[in-house]
Amino acid sequence: MYSGLKNRDILTLAELSQEELKIILDVAYNFKLRYRTGERIIPVLQGRHLAMIFEKPSTRTRVSFETAMKELGGDVIVLHASEMQLARGETIEDTARTLSRYVDGIMARVYEHYKLEKLAEYSSVPVINGLSDLHHPMQGLADVFTIIEKKGRDVSKLKIVFVGDGGDNVAHSLMLAIGLLGGRLIISSPKGYDPHPSVVKLFEETASKYGGSFEIVRDPWEAVRGADVVYTDVWVSMGQEKERERRVRDLEPYRVTSLLMSYAKNDAIFMHCLPAHRGEEVTDSVIDGKWSVVWDQAENRKHVQKAVLALVIP
Ligand code: CP
Ligand code: NVA
Repeated sequence: MYSGLKNRDILTLAELSQEELKIILDVAYNFKLRYRTGERIIPVLQGRHLAMIFEKPSTRTRVSFETAMKELGGDVIVLHASEMQLARGETIEDTARTLSRYVDGIMARVYEHYKLEKLAEYSSVPVINGLSDLHHPMQGLADVFTIIEKKGRDVSKLKIVFVGDGGDNVAHSLMLAIGLLGGRLIISSPKGYDPHPSVVKLFEETASKYGGSFEIVRDPWEAVRGADVVYTDVWVSMGQEKERERRVRDLEPYRVTSLLMSYAKNDAIFMHCLPAHRGEEVTDSVIDGKWSVVWDQAENRKHVQKAVLALVIP
């Protein structure tokens, strides 16, 4: 297996070249095929341990990483940040140094993104971002894997539209993943909900090298017209609960309904990272309807994470 990713941290996707991103997707495809044909255990990480730190709740990330690691012959230790010495003032630096003496990799889900950077700086083992306020790279990988699975390898030919909060971690990672593959993401969001400037800068420094681009289209009807892929995420992300009223009011025109989907191509797909707030950013008729690929998308988290684990853990 390709060894150029060994010991590498994956915090944003911007640390990957286009070639490395494609290698991850190819390895994931191989893992998925083997899993589907009954080869459940591929013990390339026998005896390895992954620590998983959670500052925020999780269903998919927690279970997909744990099953992935175990099916690769390894094991996991789940750590809720509130139950660690971190909660009593131990520094991230000292936590990173200590964990590095016990485990072979660290996955962390945090609020502020800088915590991951610090964890990575002081760990001698690879650190994987399991979601921060700014990025959700494992989701971005599963998203492009799913788009390719449903629509073919050349994402640059597709009209891919993210509708809703353009400053959302999932939107940021989707933008980087598509951009690294040379594609274009259309973000349909109201004023005040554009991608974070630090992510735009990262995008310009990395994805634009490969011909990747993004565009903001305020009108969701114009944005979705002729789309191949329509993607949305919650309007109120974890940690933004105090802003709920304002966010729901501002994002109301961006709900993905059957009527909005009727503006997309006939064979368009609907994507959502989940969990969904049904009735808010998306109606039941869409998430349960003919367009929806959300369960395949959720399954693919596990296959791409297996690829990442197998490639980065020494
Ligand atoms: N999509 C995703 O990361 O889901 P969880 O919050 O359940 O992990
Ligand atoms: N944007 C969402 C994604 C959840 C997987 C959040 O951060 O809560």
